[in-house]
Amino acid sequence: MSGHIPVMLDEVLKALSPRDGGVYLDGTFGGGGYARAILSHAACTLWAIDRDPEAIQRGATLVAEFPGRLHLLHGQFGDMVALLDDVGVTALDGIVLDLGVSSFQIDDPERGFSFRFDGPLDMRMGKHGTSAADLVDTLPEGALADVLYELGEERASRRIAKAIVAARKEAPIETTGRLASIIRSVLPPDRSGNDPATRSFQALRIKVNDELRQIEDALAQAASLLAPGGKLVVVAFHSLEDRIVKRFMSEAAGRTGLPSRHNPGGLMHREAPRFRLLAGRALRPGRAETDTNPRSRSARLRALERLAPPAPQGRDKGLQP
Ligand SMILES: C[S@@+](CC[C@H](N)C(=O)[O-])C[C@H]1O[C@@H](n2cnc3c(N)ncnc32)[C@H](O)[C@@H]1O
Repeated sequence: MSGHIPVMLDEVLKALSPRDGGVYLDGTFGGGGYARAILSHAACTLWAIDRDPEAIQRGATLVAEFPGRLHLLHGQFGDMVALLDDVGVTALDGIVLDLGVSSFQIDDPERGFSFRFDGPLDMRMGKHGTSAADLVDTLPEGALADVLYELGEERASRRIAKAIVAARKEAPIETTGRLASIIRSVLPPDRSGNDPATRSFQALRIKVNDELRQIEDALAQAASLLAPGGKLVVVAFHSLEDRIVKRFMSEAAGRTGLPSRHNPGGLMHREAPRFRLLAGRALRPGRAETDTNPRSRSARLRALERLAPPAPQGRDKGLQP
């Protein structure tokens, strides 16, 4: 099994700008690529979360390489406040999230994430709870179609759901290979050459791991943990993820929901934003990176900085004679 090549690593380091003595969180430890770079860049402390017990086990080597500076926490980044609170951490100088799955996960047929190999239809990053096979074999046809449409943006969702329900009447769908061939039997390859199973596999993975809710919870908690000057850096890999990140960051930086000029009252009561965007648009990987690591092609990086609170104003200012 190959390792994981960290995506947009230079851009992540630049946006996070770790400094000596700082305390940081890597919410998606994975293969430890970002973690190693952050720890090598500055004499800082790094807490790292991963929901996958295999990632945490693999990380022991890196913990030993940076004694007393890297601490691994097994859990979900959507619970970061509670996980950090348990170890006495309540404020951070920077947080990075590299969303989705690692190459360790997707390239392991036993984990069931990929239609490229035959293996158990699992897809659980945390190795517990409802698997993809459970969903495919129990969801009513309409609900299955909704998952494929909403989380995979699959336009043939109804046809695929119908074929799945017909197939599971013969025998439960327990392998990635069987699910992929059911999808391919109803859907021709598209013009871009992508496997017709791509969107449905993405949808099931997002559903199994409740990924979008995890992102929403994590962003809100991350914002509450950042100290003034602290950075939040997020790398997303598909439009559903990126849309949530984009909206959250724009709102946090006061870029959306501007009060109408026809409602000057709204303007007067508008609070100063507590964050600023580190780049107006998402950053994309350069050509050199996408050529050497095709998995980086869909990456989009967005980053936010927590601003210092405004200086307190005199309470009775303006009422003085
Ligand atoms: C793209 S990989 C991260 C790779 C890492 N940046 C590196 O350089 O090696 C994503 C990792 O995040 C983990 N992950 C995804 N969603 C998570 C969540 N909600 N909570 C905790 N870990 C999560 C996955 O298990 C996976 O190991």
